[in-house]
Amino acid sequence: MFHLQKATQVTSAESDQKGDDTLLGLAEHYRYPPRPAEGPGAAAPFVRANMVSSIDGAATHDGKSGGLGGDGDKTVFRVLRGLADVILVGAGTAITEGYRRPQPDTAFAGLREENGQAPAPALALVSRSLSIPLDYPPLAHPETVVLTCASAPADRRAALVDAGATLIDCGDDNVETSKLIETCGDRGRPRVLCEGGPSLLGSIIADDLLDELCLTTSPHLVGGRAGRIATHAADDSDDGALALKGMTPAAIITDDDGYLFMRWLRHGRSSIH
Ligand SMILES: NC(=O)c1ccc[n+]([C@@H]2O[C@H](COP(=O)([O-])OP(=O)(O)OC[C@H]3O[C@@H](n4cnc5c(N)ncnc54)[C@H](OP(=O)(O)O)[C@@H]3O)[C@@H](O)[C@H]2O)c1
Repeated sequence: MFHLQKATQVTSAESDQKGDDTLLGLAEHYRYPPRPAEGPGAAAPFVRANMVSSIDGAATHDGKSGGLGGDGDKTVFRVLRGLADVILVGAGTAITEGYRRPQPDTAFAGLREENGQAPAPALALVSRSLSIPLDYPPLAHPETVVLTCASAPADRRAALVDAGATLIDCGDDNVETSKLIETCGDRGRPRVLCEGGPSLLGSIIADDLLDELCLTTSPHLVGGRAGRIATHAADDSDDGALALKGMTPAAIITDDDGYLFMRWLRHGRSSIH
């Protein structure tokens, strides 16, 4: 049995004209699952990732994901941030892509207040080497955390703490992915938005912690040697193939520029609609 999936049209022109209404309309399609106001379920993290890929599976063009993006992609990126409690990102990606601290977005202020969320998502940088530049602007903000492990280089730990960073150990020898996610929940930031990069997403997938993938397919072919959106060391060994993890399509949205925005939910997660 085949199903012809009718894509929801959200045009970049509409985004420009209707402003906040379009953003909030789009946010309806991307709502996190409802959670109880209190009790154990209230802090249970839901892990969503947002990634972009070319038609032929490249995660970058000219070394950055931004080269694959378009207006619609920027709008979806903004909406997903507008809904999230915390942006979990590999330190390398944050530096390469020039991340700044997420600012409150007025379009989502009412929605966030209704949901009891902070005005803006926090930034959580993942790094084992701690080779983050000491003058990286978001580092010293009290809402930014660096998630690392106990065996991270002691001199780098001291330097980052001196620079005003908040470090949290999520493991002893390695950064444990499950502890990353647990920490987000413990800090009252259960709506997790992972923006990659591929190594971090690969670890999250390997540990079966991904609840939803929001995947933008950019209408381009890249060819070449660009990597894909998730990588993990286990792929490299002869017998290390990871188990297939089934996902269910929950929404397909398109725009006038030919981008496809897909929401994939893990099997067993009911659709939010
Ligand atoms: N297509 C997309 O949607 C997309 C999204 C994001 C990034 N990108 C692109 O992907 C490229 C970067 O790829 P990448 O795989 O190097 O990015 P990444 O996943 O951000 O990894 C970079 C660094 O983050 C830290 N990290 C990631 N996972 C970790 C883990 N499980 N434990 C401990 N530390 C971890 C490590 O920092 P330390 O080395 O400091 O220990 C690692 O070197 C860039 O070109 C970026 O533009 C594409």
